[in-house]
Amino acid sequence: MRAADILEHEHETVLVVTKAARREAEAIEETGQVNTQRIGKFADFFLNFVDRCHHGKEEKHPFPMLEERGVPRGGGPVGVILQEHELGRAEVRAIAEALTRLEQGDGGAAEAIKQHLLAYADLLEAHIQKENGILFPMGDRILTPDDQQSLVDAFDAVEREEMGEGTHEHYHQWIHEIVKE
Ligand SMILES: [Fe+2]
Repeated sequence: MRAADILEHEHETVLVVTKAARREAEAIEETGQVNTQRIGKFADFFLNFVDRCHHGKEEKHPFPMLEERGVPRGGGPVGVILQEHELGRAEVRAIAEALTRLEQGDGGAAEAIKQHLLAYADLLEAHIQKENGILFPMGDRILTPDDQQSLVDAFDAVEREEMGEGTHEHYHQWIHEIVKE
């Protein structure tokens, strides 16, 4: 099994949510209202599923392995990807901060939430294209079948030990709910 199959599958999940985040931003634009509970859930998904789980897997395992095989961490495609992970973190922080401001009565924060949701969706969608189209095929050329298997095992361990059993399932359930609405 390719380790990238697991990451690409997670990308599909992320893209379902960025699409929903765009719809949420449109709803804010049209109504001027923010469903704060839902925005809180988007922020939670971006923080835990996308960043902690998915980017965590990428940064802890395949990127260091590629570095060992001679792919530099800075400057090349890995450097670009790491920089985009940081930009994504900044957008998620901005969404969470604007949500707090809104809950404290700052009506102007609705516009900031809308803009950061769209910026995050733009960033992640382009980022996923780069990973699927450039970085992962490069990894497939460099990594051996044993490397691939050890990455698959390492990803399983991240799921079990760091995220906890049932975490993935919890997010998938929530995604079903937002897609239905
Ligand atoms: Fe990714």
